[in-house]
This record gives sequence, C-alpha cells and structure tokens, in this order.
Amino acid sequence: MPIYHRLGRLPRKRHTTLRKDDGSIHYEELVGNQGFTGPSSLLYHLRLPTVVKEIRPLRALAWETEGERMLRHRHFRTKGLATGPSPVLDRVPLLFNAEVALSVARPEREDDFLYRNGQGDEVFFTAEGEGILESSFGELPYRPGDYVVIPRGVLHRWRFGKGPFRFLVIESAGYVRTPKRYRNEHGQLTEIAPFSERDIRRPERLVTRDEAGEFRIVVKSGQRLVETVMTHHPFDVVGWDGFYYPWAISIHDFEPRVGRVHLPPPVHQTFEGDGFVVCSFCPRPYDFDPEAVPVPYSHQNVMSDEVLFYANSEFMSRKGIEYGSITLHPDGLPHGPQPGKTEESIGAKGTSELAVMVDTFRPLLVSRAALAVEDAGYPLSWLSK
Ligand SMILES: [Fe+2]
Repeated sequence: MPIYHRLGRLPRKRHTTLRKDDGSIHYEELVGNQGFTGPSSLLYHLRLPTVVKEIRPLRALAWETEGERMLRHRHFRTKGLATGPSPVLDRVPLLFNAEVALSVARPEREDDFLYRNGQGDEVFFTAEGEGILESSFGELPYRPGDYVVIPRGVLHRWRFGKGPFRFLVIESAGYVRTPKRYRNEHGQLTEIAPFSERDIRRPERLVTRDEAGEFRIVVKSGQRLVETVMTHHPFDVVGWDGFYYPWAISIHDFEPRVGRVHLPPPVHQTFEGDGFVVCSFCPRPYDFDPEAVPVPYSHQNVMSDEVLFYANSEFMSRKGIEYGSITLHPDGLPHGPQPGKTEESIGAKGTSELAVMVDTFRPLLVSRAALAVEDAGYPLSWLSK
C-alpha cells in the first residue's frame, strides 16, 4: 500500500543497531514482496524471528472442481454452505483459478494459532462481524462493510468482537493494490479517485508481546498448510516502518459515481490484482436524465468472468437473489437484467444495493462444495414467466 507508515521505536538509520535497556540489540526483519524491490516494511523484534522449534505438515488443500467446466450462468446460495468454526481452516472455496480464489467463511471462534499466507494476498470483505485483526504490525479494527487487505507473509490472527461473522475471502496470487488509474505518477490517489488515503485505515496500536512459551503458526504455501512452533510470541515487534502492512477500507467510504445516463462497471472499481479487479456497488441515486435506463444493458464479458457477492438482498438488475448469494456470469454468454427489471428501473430514483464484484480475466473453476448450494434454475431465469 503506497502510504508510508510507522509505529513504535526505530533506529535513526535502517540496518543499524536499536539497543534495549540492557545494551543488547533488537533483530531487524524485512517483510514485503518482489524480492528486495517491491513494497516492504522493516520490523524490529525483541527476539530472532527465525526461531522454530518444530515444523510439521498439517494438511494439503485439495480444492476439488466440479469436473468438466459447465458453461452456464451460476447462482450459489451461500447461506446453505456447511462452514466450520475457524476463519483460516474452514473457509469454503467456491470459485478459483491460478490467480484468484473466492471463498466464504462464517467463523464462530478465534483461532488458537497465528496464520501467515505464504502464497498470496488476502482480502476479507466483512459482510458481518466486528473485531480486531492483530498482526506483527499492530491492531487493525474492522467492522461490517470493511475490506481488510492482508498482504502475503503478514502474520496475523482474527480477533472477534461482536458477531456473527460472515466474510467473502478473495485470495490473490499477485499484489492487491488500488487501481493504477486512480494514482498519479507519485503514487498518490488523485482527486478523480472514488476514495482517498484518508479513507484507508492502517494498524493503530502496536502491542509488543514479550512472552516465552510455545506458539503455533499455520503457514499456507504451495496449496498446503504447514504448522510451525516458535519458542516465543512472534508479535514481539517494538517498532516498524514502511509501505507493507495490513490495511482496511470500508465499502461505505467508496464514493459512487452517477451520470446523466448509465456508467459502466469500471466506475465502481476499488482494487486491482494480477488477473482480476474488485468493484463495489454501493447505494446511490440513479442516473438523472428523465429518459435514462438506470439498470445495465445486456453485455458479454469479453475475456472476463464476472462474480457478484450480494451483501444485501437487493440488486438493481437481478431477481431471485438473496443476501449471501454469489452469481457467476462467465465469458462466452451474454447476461443482463432479468425480465421486467429494465422497465421497472425507468424513472426510479435510486438503489440501496450493496455488492462486491470480482471480474477475472481468465476463466474460473467451480468447486464441488459450491454445487451443494447451487440454484439449478438460475441459467433459465431470463425466461419470461
Ligand atoms: Fe455484468
């Protein structure tokens, strides 16, 4: 995230000593991506961040697909999914390719281990629930409507306040960032961007854990989970600075764009990754020309699979969806408003829809788990009744 941030104590120059009261030194660690040239931060630990007492394989993540890819519009009612209690171990993958995976998590309790994704960035869209994401970088509070972005390699744990909890988890092989067209050549979000740096929340409070004992860490790498055990609490950071850390932005701080006539989905873009974009559909007034047709025209997503997660039960162009629904409109088939929705929208004043869209540039596979909650009638839902 291209905003410099710092918390706690730092030596004046990087790669120089930061001494403790007893004269011993702290241990510096670089966390970032793209070798030594991508975004990164420098952390200062009480103890060596490399001390591991035990390493053991936990399990392989065999994500099964439906088999031969079926080309049809899909609708999954995720409220019927059997999920488990852990935000890390029990997320259910629904749609994925080599660049991005979309899962749903409805966790019920905090993990008693820490977690690091070593193969990708994670974006949690918080449909429900509030609490604190704790990490080596400090505490980051989250609440309903937040996108919480956790870059790869960031050790963290979800702490739960008020529930229940429901997340859409977007896992990205590449770095998740704000769209390039919103930033100037210096990296700052410009006046045409639908949000600004002021809307981006960063870790607030650094809590330094000076504790010896056994601390379990689950690491995801190569579609496997591995468990390591450290002999001290890894959140023993006294200070850090840089451009790499978990951050959050609320969907309610995204300023929707409205035109005299319909504006296409790129105006809703919130993030970009490698091979996909994320857009936010927020409550807004409709287009203001008296003859405007506010709902979208039918379209084919040329070279793009389009996924929508419905964060409430309303959507301007869709019938039959519910809160928690996920639709997939794949490349190769046109889709658009269902019968009656276009006529219904003319002259209407606004929408209170709330939805997250993920458009991928390469086809998505459907997991076997998703089939259990598929609405089989959806591909034919454009037939007039
Ligand atoms: Fe669409």
